[in-house]
Amino acid sequence: MITELNRNFSITDNLKFITESHGLNIIYIANDFATAQISLHGAQVLSFRPREEDDLLWVSKKSLFEQDKAIRGGIPLCCPWFGAHPSDSTQPSHGFARLSEWRVISTKKMHNGATRISFELTPSNKTKKYWDNNFVFTLTVTVHKKLTIELNIQNCGDKPITITAALHTYFNISDINNVTIYGLEDSPFIGIPESEENPENKPITINQELDRIYLDHNNDCTITDTGLNRTIRIAKQGSNSTVIWNPWIDKAKRMLDFGDTEYKTMLCVETTNADNDAREILPSLSHTLATTISLDY
Ligand code: BG6
Repeated sequence: MITELNRNFSITDNLKFITESHGLNIIYIANDFATAQISLHGAQVLSFRPREEDDLLWVSKKSLFEQDKAIRGGIPLCCPWFGAHPSDSTQPSHGFARLSEWRVISTKKMHNGATRISFELTPSNKTKKYWDNNFVFTLTVTVHKKLTIELNIQNCGDKPITITAALHTYFNISDINNVTIYGLEDSPFIGIPESEENPENKPITINQELDRIYLDHNNDCTITDTGLNRTIRIAKQGSNSTVIWNPWIDKAKRMLDFGDTEYKTMLCVETTNADNDAREILPSLSHTLATTISLDY
């Protein structure tokens, strides 16, 4: 399989496929602007490093790399539902996209030096166990100075479908005490911790478990990190909600694929269609959820 992938889709000095010792196939991208790694399992971006910079993304040292598990870190694709299944608690958390093997459909070196790769997920015996709809999910990843991820969800059936989704991005930070998130000051939220002031009208700092969906939010967020001396910008399209998550101490200890102290060096800022931002997609139509991640200079 890896030989065939390289024969059909590698780009000399730019993009290649490698089977890692854990058994999953990883795509390595390098161009004049950045390097990136993407797992075919879940079409999950695991690393994005603009040249001369530390990784913007974080992957747990305890992550499992197994066919039927989600990788803990990078940008898991949560689709066609975010969080618990709306009616069936036996279904996997965050949908099946991150548990599935995606198919590469194209790779390209762009005129501006960017590298682009597209993946597709279509119904199979495995996906039918989870979701009996006719669909095409397409993911396009563009690596340049900025990283752009576009998830297109197409309804190929004859009935409307309703989805929730997330580009569940785990950011690499120096220390949770060093970061402030800007851009959500005016957004109402649900989740924990609750607050008497909602919206809180102030930038977010984290000193306890935080798991909130911010609603009516479609502008940029930034993460300022005084330890790494940088600001990450998260722009988005097709999204009117944002999830901020850090498990803090107790939840970190409860998760098998997450180190006990790793909550200090990660922070999730997720571009979502969550809660009242669920989308109905009519037959033959599609919805695109997209984010662009970059450093402010
Ligand atoms: C976040 C949710 O998006 O994902 C949290 O808001 C959840 O509630 C977290 O704990 C991780 O989920 P999972 O399924 O990857 O452990």
